[in-house]
Amino acid sequence: MTAVEQSLPEQNHQPKTIYLKDYQVPDYLVKTTDLRFEIYDGETIVSAMLDLYRNPAATTAATQLRLHGADLELISISLDDKVLTPADYEFGEESLTLFNTPETFKLLTITKIKPEANTSLEGLYRSRTMYCTQCEAEGFRKITYYLDRPDVMSEFTTTVVADKKYPVLLSNGNLLEQGELDNNRHYAIWHDPFKKPAYLFALVAGDLAHIEDSFTTCSGREVALKIFVEPKDLDKCDHAMTSLKNSMRWDEEVYGREYDLNIFMIVAVDDFNMGAMENKGLNIFNTSCVLAKPETTTDAGFQRVEGVVAHEYFHNWSGNRVTCRDWFQLSLKEGFTVYRDAEFSADMGSRTVKRVEGVTLLRTLQFAEDAGPMAHPIRPESYIEISNFYTMTVYEKGAEIIRMLATLLGKDNFRKGTDLYFDRHDGQAVTTEDFVAALADASGRDLTQFKRWYSQAGTPRLEVTDHYDEDAQEYRLTFKQSCPATPECQHKLPFHIPVAMGLLGSAGDLPLYLKDAEPDFETSDNTYKVLELTQAEQSFVFQRVQEKPVPSLLRGFSAPVKLHYHYSRADLVLLMSRDSDGFNRWEASQQLGLAAIYTAMQHYQQGGDLSGWVLDADLIEAYRSVLQDESLDQAMVAYMLSLPSEAYLSELAEVVDVEAIHYSRLAVRKALAHALRDEFVRIYNAYNHQQAYRVTADAIASRSLKNVALAYLILLNDETLIRACEQQYRTSNNMTDVMAALTQLVNSESSLGQGLAENALADFYQRWQHESLVVNQWLMVQASCSLPNTLAKVKALLEHPGFDGKNPNKIRALIASFCNSNAINFHANAGAGYQFLADQIIQLNRQNPQIASRLLTPLTKWKKYNSQQQTLMKAELERIMAEPQLSKDVFEVVSKSLA
Ligand code: ARG
Ligand code: ZN
Repeated sequence: MTAVEQSLPEQNHQPKTIYLKDYQVPDYLVKTTDLRFEIYDGETIVSAMLDLYRNPAATTAATQLRLHGADLELISISLDDKVLTPADYEFGEESLTLFNTPETFKLLTITKIKPEANTSLEGLYRSRTMYCTQCEAEGFRKITYYLDRPDVMSEFTTTVVADKKYPVLLSNGNLLEQGELDNNRHYAIWHDPFKKPAYLFALVAGDLAHIEDSFTTCSGREVALKIFVEPKDLDKCDHAMTSLKNSMRWDEEVYGREYDLNIFMIVAVDDFNMGAMENKGLNIFNTSCVLAKPETTTDAGFQRVEGVVAHEYFHNWSGNRVTCRDWFQLSLKEGFTVYRDAEFSADMGSRTVKRVEGVTLLRTLQFAEDAGPMAHPIRPESYIEISNFYTMTVYEKGAEIIRMLATLLGKDNFRKGTDLYFDRHDGQAVTTEDFVAALADASGRDLTQFKRWYSQAGTPRLEVTDHYDEDAQEYRLTFKQSCPATPECQHKLPFHIPVAMGLLGSAGDLPLYLKDAEPDFETSDNTYKVLELTQAEQSFVFQRVQEKPVPSLLRGFSAPVKLHYHYSRADLVLLMSRDSDGFNRWEASQQLGLAAIYTAMQHYQQGGDLSGWVLDADLIEAYRSVLQDESLDQAMVAYMLSLPSEAYLSELAEVVDVEAIHYSRLAVRKALAHALRDEFVRIYNAYNHQQAYRVTADAIASRSLKNVALAYLILLNDETLIRACEQQYRTSNNMTDVMAALTQLVNSESSLGQGLAENALADFYQRWQHESLVVNQWLMVQASCSLPNTLAKVKALLEHPGFDGKNPNKIRALIASFCNSNAINFHANAGAGYQFLADQIIQLNRQNPQIASRLLTPLTKWKKYNSQQQTLMKAELERIMAEPQLSKDVFEVVSKSLA
């Protein structure tokens, strides 16, 4: 057999745009896929035997077959046992086309790949001591020639052969056979009985340890559960295992979904582009989303593990059993699964807290995306590189769309709808239209207008005005909706928007009597209603309203919109203390905080001095009463006392004034710290006793409240308090409290704090240098420091042994943290931060295009800054654009940003 050298076309022409409207069913389908991997040091030989047949649904009978393939060396290819010659096929860009293909045939290809040289972390690659795969979205084509598209589903059998120094050999499905071979080699054969697209394929080979448990499904089947990690991490798997069992039970109870194989495996990998991947029966996880123990992992880390384990497990139904027809449908599985995992987390912990966290994420990052050059509907119409569409919009806004459907249908009909969806489409690759149709059919609701949420991008704006007629005792609410233009659509049609609401009187919730409404049988609670907006302007009249009410609108954030209603400070104080909707109590606190920051900003922008800034007494009292409110969950107190973030303030701004935002927010925080010092000290002392660490919602809430108090107190630059912080750093038994204290020391403006921070940072690295995930937290706390000179420190850290420029987690911890979470430094020094970021992106462009592209986000927002900053940011984008051999990933984001 002679190796056929494939000449790779240079990628210097404009990459091609793919359109949803061009979708065509595949010409051929694959019945079975038999793979054999021979893993050797430096190279792997892949044999693929495909059983192909013409797609009966194709409009014409094809006589050619175009397979996807990238970075492959073809060794041989035969069709029904006949060896093909170069006259029988042709290489294209990422493709191999076979001529004269019959109705059905068996195709055997043998290719050589180099996992050790694969730095893109797509396809088969090496991470530290193991081999692993990442195939979604289009990584399988880097493994072998294939119909690498999600509507081609096939039954996979996989043989993995390797040296015995890799004792663990895994793939999807059930283990059929394993055994020894000559030359110190061995093999394992896996068979997955469920048809799947190639993006769900997985393989792992390594020297791994594992923990094992089992789960009995609702129909009484035993499922073996295994979590594989590097041996040093075996002590950090228990939380993931508990989360997995909870997820399996929850999906049975809430969605009636049972697991379907005899084994479910998770493997933790250190080098991973994303969070995790739902490969059938063999989920592969970023170590940061599996490993957790109190000494090394913060509460947020524990919660992330729980959420991601659930997310990937839930994909077994929403994604794997029912998958996507094409990648424009990505939100079909991702939006739905994010909604499912968010509801799971809400059930495991505090529902209101989870909602506050989810909405915070949406309103800072997704709203910003919706307002920028990469804005796209949750079902995009076109893309250049699909990896660029694993976005906040597809995931988080996608989940909001599902949440609205659940709100509109009500619990029972929503469940009937999802049952119908799973039954009707089990084993199929479908579209978001199919999903909505199942919900409409099961509930009898007309969702035609609702579907605009799938095709129109942008964040709708809701203007609300009201009128109270005292004589008639009638209260009218008027809603006007609009939506700003986005790249794909200038004029938006009205959305179907559910507005959950109530009315507050001086003594709390008022009963609601909606004029001309059909009597509401669904709910016995007459203080809560879901109004349905479908027109550009719409009014609702409430009767028997005995006092002028304060409206509580968009309860639980019932729709992903920007709500505008002119609340007075007194209204907000009432909502913050009396609303029966916990989310809106928090929202009122944020509105109060925003107003306070805006007042300071105005002063600053007019050249005023913010030192010694004070807040109005009634505002202070409002915050004081939150601290004293015994009825509130402590986690909610912590969130209500936390001011809106700089990122959220930037999103809300027309033109972002980085310094004004930073210094005004800080001034308000200092003013609160001075005014409420005694309360904060009381809270800090009340919760600051060492206890055995637990991850319960209550324990997390106490730590979070205590650390919010600490963050305020440290602003007072008081020696006793700074020393207390340092003591917390030294003596805490858990990473949440250690990191909270370290963060405060690192950001302390006092020289005492700075000195203590320097010692603590050295001590921390000394202590944790062998725990990669902990070192990431150490990088992140330094990169996020808002004091001057941070860029120089970040640059120095690039050379530190604790950093690794090939590892995505380290890149995120150091480079992305600096550029995304440290606005005051990133935008300082005449563009030095922009230049730094562009240098990093250019370096990563070839090494790892997905990560390079993701790092671009802060530069894509250039149009929101002042003209000097705009010029500097744009210049860096142009410098990147001028690079030879730009990856499709980077090209797409940069070109759209400059358009
Ligand atoms: N499907 C994975 C999830 O659970 C994400 C994988 C995306 N990978 C990628 N390279 N874009 O959300
Ligand atoms: Zn997912």
